[in-house]
Amino acid sequence: MSDRTAGRGNSKSSSDGRGDEASGRRQIVKFSFYRVDPAWRRLPVAERDAGKDALVAAVDAFSGRLQVRSYSVVGMRGDADILLWQIGERLEDIQALATEVMRTPLGPYLSMPHSYLAMTRKSQYVSPAEAEARLHLHPAESKYFFVYPFVKTREWYQLSLEERQEMMNVHIAVGRKYPSVKLNTTYSFGLDDQEFVVSFETDEPADFLDLVMELRGAKSSLYTLRDTPAFTCISLGLRETLDTLGAPGDPVSAAAAQATGEQWQRVADDADVPEGAAKMVYFAGEQVALVRAGEQLYAVANRCSHANASLADGTVADGALTCPSHGSTFELATGEPSCGPANRPLTTYAVRTEDGGIWLAQREPVPGSTSGA
Ligand code: FES
Repeated sequence: MSDRTAGRGNSKSSSDGRGDEASGRRQIVKFSFYRVDPAWRRLPVAERDAGKDALVAAVDAFSGRLQVRSYSVVGMRGDADILLWQIGERLEDIQALATEVMRTPLGPYLSMPHSYLAMTRKSQYVSPAEAEARLHLHPAESKYFFVYPFVKTREWYQLSLEERQEMMNVHIAVGRKYPSVKLNTTYSFGLDDQEFVVSFETDEPADFLDLVMELRGAKSSLYTLRDTPAFTCISLGLRETLDTLGAPGDPVSAAAAQATGEQWQRVADDADVPEGAAKMVYFAGEQVALVRAGEQLYAVANRCSHANASLADGTVADGALTCPSHGSTFELATGEPSCGPANRPLTTYAVRTEDGGIWLAQREPVPGSTSGA
């Protein structure tokens, strides 16, 4: 279990985090689970599309004040459809976004069956450097997100710090056995009903399951009062998240198209990717970087095979894409790394343009492909 958060440094705070709270450096974190009234699915397609467009625009308008990540919970639970994970500095921004979402044409059809408010805070059980790093969340762009509220027994708080530290050392050691799982612990004491909201980002759901199961055997688990409901969420762009709501007349989703044998899916407008630029899109639930180099259009996995950076934020030159994090360079035609530290190739996709759009398909097998890459 990794925690790759990073602080801003220059801390003047005390080790319990109160100084950071006073200086406003801690973050407000909100998990808003929305459910859509089935009546919305009976609206005409154009009305539904207008509602989705308005909601996307409402969230986009907050990009300067909040980090907002969208996830689909459709098919994972019966009581929620969408998660908006929001990270910001002010409660007022969280409230204003909720208001704007409700003002969209989709708003009258939305309820919020689960809502968790929390803040970042320094952990008292880790090193000072790690505690500092936890003041700021840095979402990992992983495909899966697991969230649950958490309450400890009151007996836990009566134990000495040494006793708690001993148990937490075991807990932390178990977590470190699962580096593919990134933990984000946030604190809700007094802000909301739970004491913590714990969230995990990973591309490997099986690793998360094994981690949680192993933690049940740790002594600290005896002091858990409540850690439900638990949510399994799939990371998608907001528009793609809304598309998973599904309704009669909707175009088939990329994932469903794959299941039904359809191969090519329109993922962007041709004009969205100018020469020398890259754009991240979702295809079959995966992040894909569309890249135009000269006349040629390419599509490769968006996450760097070294440490998951978003390659759509990289630079394009000489038919290659360079990662913005540590400089790995990948050949766009093959996905092969030509310069490290990455040493694994990227998945490449078949790409074509038609009717003013950019279309993707899995590269294998694509009989009769008119791939432009
Ligand atoms: S994340 Fe791309 S080179 Fe390290």
